[in-house]
Amino acid sequence: MADEVLRELITDLDGIYFDATIGNAGHAELIMNRLSPNAKLVGSDSDPEAAALAVRRLAAFGERAIVVHADYRELAKIFEDLGIEKINGALFDLGLSSLQLDNPRRGFAYRLDGPLDLRFDPTRGQPTSDWVNSASEEELAGIFKRFGEEPNARRIARRIVKLRAAQPIETTTQLRDLIISVVGPNGRIWGRTAARIFQALRVHSNSELDAIAMGLTSALDLLSEGSRLVVIAYHSLEDRIVKTIMREAARKCDCPRIYGQCRCGASPRGHLVHKRVLRPTEAECAANPRAQAARMRVFEVHISESSWGTK
Ligand SMILES: C[S@@+](CC[C@H](N)C(=O)[O-])C[C@H]1O[C@@H](n2cnc3c(N)ncnc32)[C@H](O)[C@@H]1O
Repeated sequence: MADEVLRELITDLDGIYFDATIGNAGHAELIMNRLSPNAKLVGSDSDPEAAALAVRRLAAFGERAIVVHADYRELAKIFEDLGIEKINGALFDLGLSSLQLDNPRRGFAYRLDGPLDLRFDPTRGQPTSDWVNSASEEELAGIFKRFGEEPNARRIARRIVKLRAAQPIETTTQLRDLIISVVGPNGRIWGRTAARIFQALRVHSNSELDAIAMGLTSALDLLSEGSRLVVIAYHSLEDRIVKTIMREAARKCDCPRIYGQCRCGASPRGHLVHKRVLRPTEAECAANPRAQAARMRVFEVHISESSWGTK
């Protein structure tokens, strides 16, 4: 959704922009090329390999492009360290990159053999296999249900607990084969099941939903008047959080006038730019099938002290 990102995000060609999930710096490079030579971009990624790649890709922009290996949950600290108080736009392109998905070493893909890792930042915490081999059946099933919406959550959890007693589950292939042993060899069925289970493990291992909530909330605090928060989500769990945070940030006071003053405490910080999500064009989906799931939401910041009496 490159065209949409440029159109929706940039409101000031001389501004300071934040790419919270810089990844391969595809969006970041396009943004830098669009901005004036006075503008700046700060990018973060919790994956050290992605951050290093982005540094190389943006080297031509010199000090105008700053990339840090950091979790966007820490964005207040990132900007405090840089001495930047306000920004003119923030982009969150959620989930994982094609580079991560296509790298068997990272353990994100059930079709590739590799360690069952699934961490965005392998320098922190433990690989996902540690959790899979120690969590209770209850915990496993709960995560598969909550973050994968998996109908066979309980059966798969039970099989994990049974099989790991003989041999710990350390690889993507072991888990994939275990899933096939539960739901059968029909490729469409086990493929979808594996996609949901791997998604659940990834969301859990990286505390993704908490991260999104924290990151978006902190970004709203940094955005200046008239600037925009642009978020691209790839599954309904992510999108639900984005929608909730943006709606809450846009919520106006609806206390009855008879109260004489606002009692609900609403203090809207702006509005949703589009009523519905923006989707990639058919042409983009044809060229890049992974884009199909993308949905973009855009929030524009307008700071007002109170919305009392506006409804
Ligand atoms: C879809 S990719 C971004 C691709 C990027 N927009 C581009 O054009 O190349 C998402 C990136 O977000 C990173 N990421 C995920 N969670 C993160 C977090 N909490 N903090 C920082 N980066 C995160 C992933 O490591 C991945 O590189």
